[in-house]
Amino acid sequence: MTKKRQLLYLLALCVFSVYINGCTRSQKSKTEFIPGEIWYDTDGNPINAHGGGIMFYDGTYYWYGEFKGDSTYRLEWVTTWECWRADVGGVSCYSSKDLLNWKFEGVVLASTPNDSTSDLHPSQVIERPKVIYNEKVRKFVMWMHIESPDYEKAHAGVAVSDSPTGQFTYLGSFKPNGGDSRDQTIFKDDDGRAYHIYSSEWNKTMYIGLLNEEYTQHTGIYTRNFIDMSREAPAVFKHHNKYYMITSGCTGWDPNVAEIAVADSMLGEWKVLGNPCVGQNADSTFFAQGTFVLPVENKRDTYIAMFDRWNKTNLIDSRYVWLPLTFKKGNPVIKWQDKWKLD
Ligand code: DGJ
Repeated sequence: MTKKRQLLYLLALCVFSVYINGCTRSQKSKTEFIPGEIWYDTDGNPINAHGGGIMFYDGTYYWYGEFKGDSTYRLEWVTTWECWRADVGGVSCYSSKDLLNWKFEGVVLASTPNDSTSDLHPSQVIERPKVIYNEKVRKFVMWMHIESPDYEKAHAGVAVSDSPTGQFTYLGSFKPNGGDSRDQTIFKDDDGRAYHIYSSEWNKTMYIGLLNEEYTQHTGIYTRNFIDMSREAPAVFKHHNKYYMITSGCTGWDPNVAEIAVADSMLGEWKVLGNPCVGQNADSTFFAQGTFVLPVENKRDTYIAMFDRWNKTNLIDSRYVWLPLTFKKGNPVIKWQDKWKLD
């Protein structure tokens, strides 16, 4: 081959490989939700954002979740329940415009391997982080469940950031209104008020507390709900001026039947409607547990119910089960779909 031919050959090879790479990338882009399947981010890594929630801000969705360490182990010294855990890797954030293709924005609240006294040390527990934006103080506010390895601490933790992609500054943890705070979520209403919803009294009763103007503390106004009904994993949304809350029962990492309740005000009173899941495996919430309900932007009455399918012996491999939540005869319904699209 002459030098000129060699160069032309190399050039053709380059053009071809750019074309192939482009095609592969676009073929990889996701076009439908496949509940329970490994969900890869835009870099090709499995999404690591468990027990998560989504915030919509300035045209982009941000998904925050538990960034789990890659080995799961059982604490044998905890004898009252099967205490499987993975080291805490902090809170992760992914961004997306279409809810299907997610870009990893990094760990926005980092764990602190060098400080064994910190709530954020890998040996502790950070679960169910949720973020809302406070327009008044222009801060992104994160609430999360902070635990000791045996889950006896029952604290709520708070962190703030100037940007949705962090870094978040950790403000500390405490027992809101003097009681336990385990599984939790936060909800920002249309009037700008925000609420912290959390399992208290050894998970027997769900508390709902009004937050202060900065969303960083409780006001002291709170209600006790589902008293002695042992509900956890709260996920709240608003539809046609009514508030809805999906909860699970308390069976550790194992699935159980979900329940949905409705109220005219966030602080209650809440009326239980029953299991919103229908069809096969509805009684075990499709082998998953609720974490969030997302109202889809610019699509009226369109909601996505987000669940975690925990894999207790390999927690990082817990899968995401996202399903459409619709209303039939005024009642919320979640039906299994092998694959589905937003439209
Ligand atoms: C159920 C909770 O909903 C999860 O977030 C986690 O805390 C597990 N229990 C631990 O067993």
